[in-house]
Amino acid sequence: MAHGRASRLVCGGCGEQIAFEAGLVAQCPRAGDGGDHVLLRQLDESALPEPWFGDRSEPNPYVRFRQRFHAYHQALALGWSDAQYCDLVNSLNTAIAKVDQGRKFHVTAMSQVPALAAMLGMHGALWVKNETEHVSGSHKARHLFNILLMLRVAGAQFDGRPLAIASCGNAALGAAVLAAAAQRILHVFIPTDANPRVVERLRKLGAEVTICERQEDQTGDPCFAAFLQDVAAGAVPFACQGSENGFAIEGGEALGWEIADTLQLADASADRLFVQVGGGALASAVGRGVSQAYELGAIAQLPRLHPVQTYGAFPLARAYEHLADTMAQRLGFSQHWLDERDASEATIAVRQSRADLLAAHWHDPEMQEVFRQAIAQRSQYMWPWETPPHSIAHGILDDETYDWVAILRATLASAGFVVLASEDHLETARILGQEGTGIAADPTGTSGLAGLIALRQAGAVADHERCVVLFTGAER
Ligand SMILES: Cc1ncc(COP(=O)(O)O)c(C=O)c1O
Ligand SMILES: [Zn+2]
Repeated sequence: MAHGRASRLVCGGCGEQIAFEAGLVAQCPRAGDGGDHVLLRQLDESALPEPWFGDRSEPNPYVRFRQRFHAYHQALALGWSDAQYCDLVNSLNTAIAKVDQGRKFHVTAMSQVPALAAMLGMHGALWVKNETEHVSGSHKARHLFNILLMLRVAGAQFDGRPLAIASCGNAALGAAVLAAAAQRILHVFIPTDANPRVVERLRKLGAEVTICERQEDQTGDPCFAAFLQDVAAGAVPFACQGSENGFAIEGGEALGWEIADTLQLADASADRLFVQVGGGALASAVGRGVSQAYELGAIAQLPRLHPVQTYGAFPLARAYEHLADTMAQRLGFSQHWLDERDASEATIAVRQSRADLLAAHWHDPEMQEVFRQAIAQRSQYMWPWETPPHSIAHGILDDETYDWVAILRATLASAGFVVLASEDHLETARILGQEGTGIAADPTGTSGLAGLIALRQAGAVADHERCVVLFTGAER
């Protein structure tokens, strides 16, 4: 492949550009000023030598799509050959398979599940993208593998430094597998109620586990606070939050490219895409990946992106409502402030028509200005959930949606809106999800499907609509 500097890092919040020569910069230099800052990779698509989807016979997404990753362009600029870079990815992948019972990175299956569609009374195509058999049982390692690649390309300067992550489950497992495969020290900060089987596995993989207690009247996640301290002391943020390490978002984008490419190859379109949201890196990455493919003309229709949260904690739904209401008022929309918890047919219908209006005006300079102002005043939209959250989908109970900006951008542009799933919806999704597909996903893993069930119940999704859901998070 020829080499040009087709890739650059730009802050999705303030627009700050990072010099290519700066190498591994994980966070915007202006982070901490009260605005929202997440470094995102931007590509000059016209400078990429291969078609955007790469070599479809290549099973490893980090090889197949390598020209879309910043690490690859950094490596070439440092004088690496294409083959050397592929060797790095492949040798790490082999080491991962040894640590993780044969599992390694691959383009995961996305299949139509007519049996599940029928259970929901639908006859349009329903696709499930299955991440439960991926490295460590979820998509989480995708975010982190990209950070590992950047570390390896950056070279010896980061060699002695431990990696750090705050997580209660899947992200920590992914981190521990990758750290073991790469022979790096890993610090994991977990809550007191972490699943004992997960903790045992973390310790077996050699992670250094610290249990963090929530102090009375402390808002915000104590594990995250401990993680930040560790990073301040020199640890590398090996995190699945884009705000802490922008490469996490980039690492997950292949999921969106894979979804789009599957649709393209099947000559199919999707009306809606449901993605469960905790910290928000997953939906940010998928939203960005699918939008890029749409802009490249790979898919004819941009599916409505529906981020899904639970009634246990919905900081993103709160932010979405505030922003959507502010924008819609400028456009003269008649109804104001819809209660985030209200899932009546009438309210969901208003939410959907408002989403259509906002998408039609998304590119208006005035709308873009409202959006920019929201980003600059982060705390008015996004703040930690006030009470300890509970749900059977415990993997998406983050106090804050750290990556809310990229999600809302993709949601608003696609005429999607945030959906709340009740515990009943989540339980139904777990049961139907398993019965209708044979995939052993846990309630977090099927919580995107719970969002579809919630919208079906509210009469917003017609029988013929074509939907994509993501199963991620294997039952343990
Ligand atoms: C199985 C599973 N699905 C979805 C999520 C949500 O991802 P994110 O935190 O990036 O929003 C998580 C983790 O938080 C998870 O473990
Ligand atoms: Zn910034």
